[in-house]
Amino acid sequence: MTQKHKKYVYRLEPESFYQFLLEYGKGVEILSEGESFVEFALYEPYEGLEPLEVFEVEVLPPEKVFRARRVGKFMVLPSWIKPVVIRQGVAFGTGLHATTRLCLGLLQEYLQEGWSVLDVGTGTGILAIACKKLRAGRVLAIDIDPLAVQECVHNAKENCVEIECWHAKPEDIRETFDLLVANLELEIFKRELPYLMKLFRRVGVFSGLYGKEDLRAFLDLLGLRPAKIKRLENWYGVVVVQ
Ligand SMILES: C[S@@+](CC[C@H](N)C(=O)[O-])C[C@H]1O[C@@H](n2cnc3c(N)ncnc32)[C@H](O)[C@@H]1O
Repeated sequence: MTQKHKKYVYRLEPESFYQFLLEYGKGVEILSEGESFVEFALYEPYEGLEPLEVFEVEVLPPEKVFRARRVGKFMVLPSWIKPVVIRQGVAFGTGLHATTRLCLGLLQEYLQEGWSVLDVGTGTGILAIACKKLRAGRVLAIDIDPLAVQECVHNAKENCVEIECWHAKPEDIRETFDLLVANLELEIFKRELPYLMKLFRRVGVFSGLYGKEDLRAFLDLLGLRPAKIKRLENWYGVVVVQ
């Protein structure tokens, strides 16, 4: 939504203008400059100065104006974007795959601040890191691939977040978590779903199901009504709320 603001236009001699700048201590918008004058605008009145004119302008919300911008090796981001930095290594999870993106979207919908999270099949750790960026409490990330565990440890450090990364299977875990996220595949769910269902207290986010057949088979395994099914590029994500 656009907001309306008043714009105050002033004109001063250069010397008075620089004196004014020192006193004002904030940025101003310079409209034009000549040898004998500086014309500038403020978005508030300034006591003791008479404006040349005052008019209303529409100010666009920052989300519309301030966009992420790449400058060489730098990425300049607005503060509402949460960066997840991933090394291109040997583990799955650059964030480009539809199943990962499904999970990233569903985590934003369901994860509450302070919740504990178990990320099963963490790969690069991308989902575990995203959970931390969403202000999760304790996050445990597990994978059966030791290289993935190494990548997860590396990426957690790179993102300055604290994640426990274990070389483990779901059946090794003896605790429960508020939320579980598992981006696996149907064949793995056939073995692991009974264990996975015991590992979360509130929300389970499952992904890695390709096409309607996988989805149907997964729902049969689940045996209960999911809270949400989300599709992206013929991949499905399923949310279970306990
Ligand atoms: C599709 S990748 C998901 C990576 C990342 N979580 C993402 O969403 O982009 C699946 C990961 O699960 C791991 N995995 C496969 N079977 C597993 C199991 N039974 N227990 C734990 N991890 C498993 C694989 O090694 C792989 O790293």
